Amino acid sequence: MSKISQDIIERVRDSADIVDVVSKYVDLKQRGPNFFGLCPFHNEKTPSFSVAPAKQIFYCFGCNAGGNVYSFLMDYQQIPFPDAVKVLAEQYNIPIEFNKKDEDSGLYSSLHELHEIALELYQDNLFSNSGEKALSYLEDRGLNEDIIRQFKVGYAKDSWDQLVKKCKGKGFTRSQIVQSGLFSQSEKGTFDRFRSRVMFPIFHPSGKPIAFGGRVFESKDPAKYLNSPETPLYKKSNVFYGLQATRDAIRKEGHVVLVEGYMDFLKLYTNTIYPVVSVSGTAFTSRHASSISKITSKVILLYDGDEAGCTAAIRAGWVLFRSGLIPSVIRPPNGLDPDDWIDQFGASKLLSAIKDPQDYIDFHIELYQGDKLTGAERQQYILNLAKEIKGIEDGVIRNDLVKLIAEKLYIGEHDFIKTVNTQRINPEYSPVDEISNEEKIVFSSKVDKAQVELIQLLINDEKDLRNNIIENLELSLFTHPLLNQLAKILYDKNLDVESSSIIEYFQDKNERDSIAQILFTKDQNSMSEEIVSDCIKILKSEPLKEKISALRIGIREKESRGESPVKEMEAITKLRIKINDL
Ligand code: UTP
Ligand code: MN
Repeated sequence: MSKISQDIIERVRDSADIVDVVSKYVDLKQRGPNFFGLCPFHNEKTPSFSVAPAKQIFYCFGCNAGGNVYSFLMDYQQIPFPDAVKVLAEQYNIPIEFNKKDEDSGLYSSLHELHEIALELYQDNLFSNSGEKALSYLEDRGLNEDIIRQFKVGYAKDSWDQLVKKCKGKGFTRSQIVQSGLFSQSEKGTFDRFRSRVMFPIFHPSGKPIAFGGRVFESKDPAKYLNSPETPLYKKSNVFYGLQATRDAIRKEGHVVLVEGYMDFLKLYTNTIYPVVSVSGTAFTSRHASSISKITSKVILLYDGDEAGCTAAIRAGWVLFRSGLIPSVIRPPNGLDPDDWIDQFGASKLLSAIKDPQDYIDFHIELYQGDKLTGAERQQYILNLAKEIKGIEDGVIRNDLVKLIAEKLYIGEHDFIKTVNTQRINPEYSPVDEISNEEKIVFSSKVDKAQVELIQLLINDEKDLRNNIIENLELSLFTHPLLNQLAKILYDKNLDVESSSIIEYFQDKNERDSIAQILFTKDQNSMSEEIVSDCIKILKSEPLKEKISALRIGIREKESRGESPVKEMEAITKLRIKINDL
C-alpha cells in the first residue's frame, strides 16, 4: 500500500520517449513534426492516431483516445497507473522508490491484495472439512482436482465475516474495502458478500484475480450465480473468464470458441478443448471483440442451444463483424448448453463441430427461417439484415456478406446493396465503441469552446499572453467542471506544467482523452491576442447575460401582475452597457 514517489514518476516519464514506447506496438511514420499510425484503440484503415514528440502526448482523431506515455500503456495493456510506471521504469533502468503513508494511490495494489487473500481463503475452504460438500458438488459436475486447482476454484463458507476477519488489521482503508466488491455494507457493518457458494475467480490476462463469480449449490437461492460488481479492477465489458489460461492455445489454433458460462468453459477445457473463453453471462461488447482481435480473428460462437442463447449468439455475431472479426456458430442440440451437451453426448460431437462450424449467415437464416418467409415478413427480415450490414465498416467483410445474403435469399445483389445504402446507421453501432461513447466529454457550447481556447493558449503561448489571461480572468469563469480543474492546475502551478504531466492529474479515461485532445490540437497562433480578448469577453459576459435573463423573467411576472418593471429595465440597460464595455 505504498505509492511510487512523484520524483520517480517524473524521472521515468522524462526518460521514456513516447515515440519509442508507442513504436513498439504501432507502426509510426513521421509527417511534419508529428508521427502517425493506425490507431490501436479502434479499427481503422487510414492512420488517424498521432504522436507529438514535442509534447510527449498522443491523440487519435478517429476515436479521441489520448494521453501521455503512461496512459498509452494503461490503455494498451489494460494495466493500472503504477504498473505502467513500473513497466517503463524497468525498461529505462530506473529503480522504483516508494513513498510510505500515502493511501489511495495504492488502491489498485490493495484491491489486488484483497483478491489474493480472498482467493487463498476460498481455496483453503474448499479443501478443508467444511468444503467437503462443495468439492463433491464440483466433482459431480465433472471437474477433477487438477482443473479445480488450475483455475483456483474455491468455496465461500456460510459465514458473514470469515473474509472480513481475514482482512482485518492488514491496513486496508474503508474505501478500499468498499471498492473491492468483496463485501456488502449495511447499517450494521461490513459483511462477506459471498456466502455458501462455490467460487470461480476471474483473472486478468496477467493472471491476477480481479473478481469472482459464486454459484449456489446447497440451497435454491434465486440468484444462481452472484458476481462481483464492477470495481476499479473489474470492468465487465472487456473481461473474459479463462483467457489467462487459453491465450496461447487461441493463438496457436487460430480460433477461439466463445461460451456463455463458467461451467461451459471448464467443461470444454477439461475435455482438452483449450482455445476457449467465456463471457460469463455478460453481453458481448466491442471491447471484448477488440481484446480478442489481438490474438485471433476467428470466433466460434458456442452459446446455449435455447432461444435466449441463440439470440445472444446472433447479437454477438454482429458485434464481431463490426469489429472486423469473423464469427461462426455451433448450436448445441435440444436447447442444451455446452456443458450438458458434453455430459449427455460426450465431447466427440463437439470436437468435430469445432472443425466445421456453421457459417454465421446460414445460422441466421436457419434460425429465423429467413429463406421461407414471404411478403411483409420477408421484407422486414431483409431490412433488418441490411441495417446490420450498414453498421459494418470493413469493406471486405461487408461485400462478402452482401454477396452471400443476396445469393442465399435470392435477391439481386445490386438491389440489396441499394437497400443497405439507404439504411441509417444505428447510432449504437458507431465504429468506436458502444460504451465509452456516451461517456465522452464534449465541449459544444460557445462558452465551453472559449474556455478550451484559453486553456490551449495558457499551455502553448508566450509568457505575456498567459499572464494577461491569468490577470484578467478569474478561475471561477471557467465554468465547465473539467476545464475548471484543468485551469486550476495551470493557475496554481504558475503555468509551469508540461503537457505530458498534466494528463496524470486526471484519473478517469474519458477525462484524460479530452485533456489530450485539448493539449494536442492547438499550436502557435498569430492571432492569439485577439482570441484571448474575444474569449475573455465571452466568458465575462456570460454571468451578465444570465442576470439579464433572470431580470426578463422578473419583468414578465411584474407585467402579468400589472406592475411597472422600470427598475428591471434600468438594470438590464446597465448590464448591456457593461457587456459592451468588456
Ligand atoms: P446459465 O443460466 O446458462 O448457467 O448462465 P450455466 O452456465 O449453465 O450454469 P450452471 O451450469 O447451472 O452452473 C450462463 C452464465 O450466466 C451467468 C454465469 O456466468 C453463467 O455461467 N449467470 C447466470 C449469472 O451471472 N447469474 C445468474 O444468476 C445466472
Ligand atoms: Mn450449465
